Amino acid sequence: MKVNVLVVGKGGREHALVWKLRQSPRAGKVFCAPGNAGTAADGLNQPFDGTDFDRMARFCKKEDVGLVVIGPEDPLALGLSDYLRKQGIVVFGPSKEAARIESSKVFSKELMRNADVPTADFQVFDHPAHARTYVETRDYPVVVKADGLAAGKGVIVCKDTPTALKAVDRIMVREEFGAKVGRQIVVEKRLEGEEVSLLALVAGRSVLLLPPVQDHKAAHDGDQGPNTGGMGTYCPAPVGTPELMALAESTVFVPTVHAMKRGRFPFNGVLFAGLMLTPQGHKVLEFNARFGDPETQVILMRLKSDLLTLLEAVALEKLGELPDDAVTWDPRPAVCVVMCSGGYPGKYDNGKIITGLDEAAKLPDVKVFHAGTKDVNGRVLTDGGRVLGVTALGDDLAAAKARAYEAVKLISFAGAHYRTDIADKALRKR
Ligand code: AMP
Ligand code: GLY
Repeated sequence: MKVNVLVVGKGGREHALVWKLRQSPRAGKVFCAPGNAGTAADGLNQPFDGTDFDRMARFCKKEDVGLVVIGPEDPLALGLSDYLRKQGIVVFGPSKEAARIESSKVFSKELMRNADVPTADFQVFDHPAHARTYVETRDYPVVVKADGLAAGKGVIVCKDTPTALKAVDRIMVREEFGAKVGRQIVVEKRLEGEEVSLLALVAGRSVLLLPPVQDHKAAHDGDQGPNTGGMGTYCPAPVGTPELMALAESTVFVPTVHAMKRGRFPFNGVLFAGLMLTPQGHKVLEFNARFGDPETQVILMRLKSDLLTLLEAVALEKLGELPDDAVTWDPRPAVCVVMCSGGYPGKYDNGKIITGLDEAAKLPDVKVFHAGTKDVNGRVLTDGGRVLGVTALGDDLAAAKARAYEAVKLISFAGAHYRTDIADKALRKR
């Protein structure tokens, strides 16, 4: 029987989910709420978002939606999955309580400490004076993190003590990220090394690791400039060796999901660990309770099997029952280059006309995922900081990179900015 699906969100991650779900032989209608111009082309957009719980539940019943896939962290933190599940709707995405692994840094660090998961040394503070004393008595650089969700901005990596003191002030005293978000902070040791994104499908105690990805967080080439949501990715990331994947499974994912199950807040959905590979071994920088963006674009570009069946198995707690061949991958690597609005991650303008999308779509092994776009009378306009995730497969990483940039060069909009060095970290090492 065909299954109607609703994807919640409007970014590049959600476009990739809609595109891949649509390829399932079991897919009925694939809806996206609220979506973007890309999800409107590959699926059916709906005019409400993940904060409108009641309207979403009514829609799911009316349209006989058999699976809801929640993309972003905000609706998860607000409890959308609990609300829908209570009404008998099948949902892929953790409960509000389980989503605290992302929505509260304090919760996440304490869970790691209790489950013996490798992470940076840290302390939690609910008063700025104590935090200042702690910072002043460290003989190593620190990172100061606001407890709550702050659209990726509540993490301040500090080069010295004055910067760290200022960070404490910005979060706790000036409440730059909001009063609730900054009520508590985590101060932790600053780590050095390469970062890798590891995502796993998790249902209760079952864990299925997806191939390793490397993101590029800084806005400019050479990892310069301010941090963004992610400027590009490649998969598989060679730093994610089979040895590292096995270690991450046994020392990060298994102890974490077991601790969550024991604590009576079992995880269901994608658990995403951001790891730092330090000279002392791998350490978890953060957990996310959702698919990464733009990690998902390169992962799904390589997925050969049926995504609907996979996500449904997680949602129905049947992940452990899937046959071994339920998940197969294209052996070719994928590269995603994010094209963003001029000024991002700072201020930028919307409404610029995007040209060249049709030409780029004609290239083989290329998919242009939309992130911040909107369709106005048949014209695609920019509508966000990260606008497009231009994604390509290639016989090797260099070929995938070349193909992605070939597509990028065909696309233009006023003020467009992108990094030119996505995947170079892996290419340089060879
Ligand atoms: P988070 O939201 O905790 O992942 O932090 C966002 C980014 O800040 C990470 O991807 C890292 O680049 C950086 N970061 C976080 N924690 C640390 C740390 N302990 N040492 C160095 N960099 C960090
Ligand atoms: N690309 C990092 C994230 O999705 O949080």
